Amino acid sequence: MALRCDLILRDATIFDGTGTARRRGDVAVTGDRIVGVGDLGAWSADREVLANGKAVAPGFIDAHTHDDRAVLCGPECMTCKMSQGVTSVVVGNCGISLSPVRFKGGTRPLPPLDLVFEDGWARFGDFADYAKELADKPSPVNTVALIGHMTLRIEAMQGDTQRAATDKEAAAMQTRLREAMEQGASGFSTGLYYPPNIMAPTSEVIAVAEALRSTGGLYVTHMRDEATHVLDSIEETLQIGRAAGVPVVISHHKCAQPENFGRSTETLALIEKNARTQAVAFDVYPYYAGSTVLMPDKVRPDVTVKIAWSKPHPEMEGRWLSDVAKEWGMELKAAAEKLLPAGAIMFQMDEADVQRIMQHDLSMIGSDGLPHDRFPHPRLWGCFPRVLGHYARDLKLFSLETAVHKMTGRTAAVFGLEDRGVIRVGAYADLVLFDPETVRDVADFDHPTRPAEGILETWINGQSAYVGGVGATAARAGRLVTRGRA
Ligand code: ZN
Ligand code: CU
Repeated sequence: MALRCDLILRDATIFDGTGTARRRGDVAVTGDRIVGVGDLGAWSADREVLANGKAVAPGFIDAHTHDDRAVLCGPECMTCKMSQGVTSVVVGNCGISLSPVRFKGGTRPLPPLDLVFEDGWARFGDFADYAKELADKPSPVNTVALIGHMTLRIEAMQGDTQRAATDKEAAAMQTRLREAMEQGASGFSTGLYYPPNIMAPTSEVIAVAEALRSTGGLYVTHMRDEATHVLDSIEETLQIGRAAGVPVVISHHKCAQPENFGRSTETLALIEKNARTQAVAFDVYPYYAGSTVLMPDKVRPDVTVKIAWSKPHPEMEGRWLSDVAKEWGMELKAAAEKLLPAGAIMFQMDEADVQRIMQHDLSMIGSDGLPHDRFPHPRLWGCFPRVLGHYARDLKLFSLETAVHKMTGRTAAVFGLEDRGVIRVGAYADLVLFDPETVRDVADFDHPTRPAEGILETWINGQSAYVGGVGATAARAGRLVTRGRA
């Protein structure tokens, strides 16, 4: 039977996203869907791409991003992701989302809200307004949205957030979260680590998360403590999930600070034990340095820090905090204070922990890239190719099938993204073609915005969105994707 389709990738090595063994074959696409997989010798297409054994995989799903604003800024803003083969991003992490918030006149979004907010962007009073802008000015990539606790708190507590919410305020947040879920959001995120959210007791989070029970959302968290009290934080997360009756995702799982190096054996054992009785997953980025806003109180001499951005001192971007402090003749903390508001890259993890966490069956890959930093952590441009090249191919931490699964099928299953993250007939045509021999991250801590090598082409909902060596196309085929409510 001869069939005609829009696009055929011929003679590819197919990694289907489920983790099963690679196989050689063709993939056919019509419109936004995959219409054929296997030996399609009798088929013809408007465009034929000869893969010559190169790898085709489902487009990567970035499980953890702060791309809330970047997805609204056009293809240039998402080149950092599409050049890695990413086709979908989960926004609204760490308690920070662009919507829904009605700021009182003059209220300025304080750190860490400034990771995504910027003048003029506090304008989505309802999640529906954000969804409408995504529909009117589509992003090239698909967007899955979480609603941030900190964003909800600013409105419900009228900016007075250095305390626990009252029952009435928590109820108001619950109502706003429920509305947002009904308008297409997929879950609720917290960043209990950050002041002022650290003032929120577990009971407040449970009260807000109650909105997820009837709407089928996920609870996703940057935990209260990823260092000495990391086990308590995991217990708290699990407790919130049980109380609201929802699955939980631990964000960028790590054991931070030198005194906690090696403790991922404990954290993973605790998560594993509880995974037998409740739904729990975690994301991880493939680096031993983290990045967020610069917090002078957290600065310590045994954790080196690089400056990602500084409003008053942009000339210090990309430099070591210790060098800046020396130059200014100041203590580290005083120098950090002088740089505020600022962003930092902290070398605070143990490589063995990073590898152990990545290797775990429950992990999925999320970049946590910060798209508005002027000297960003290289995970923004390098995360996914680094897992494929450095960790899977070169270090053999796991098979390439497993690497792809942790970026596609597993993530789609955790977030409930129907017909995504897999290559099969009927699934959406989110695809990446890459060379498994050469794929690698080129961005590093000195040159953080270099595009990856070996990513040949990325398709999103059937449209070519990025071509290796050329750049982003004009396509804007991304959609808001909402967690299945089955
Ligand atoms: Zn975070
Ligand atoms: Cu984050």
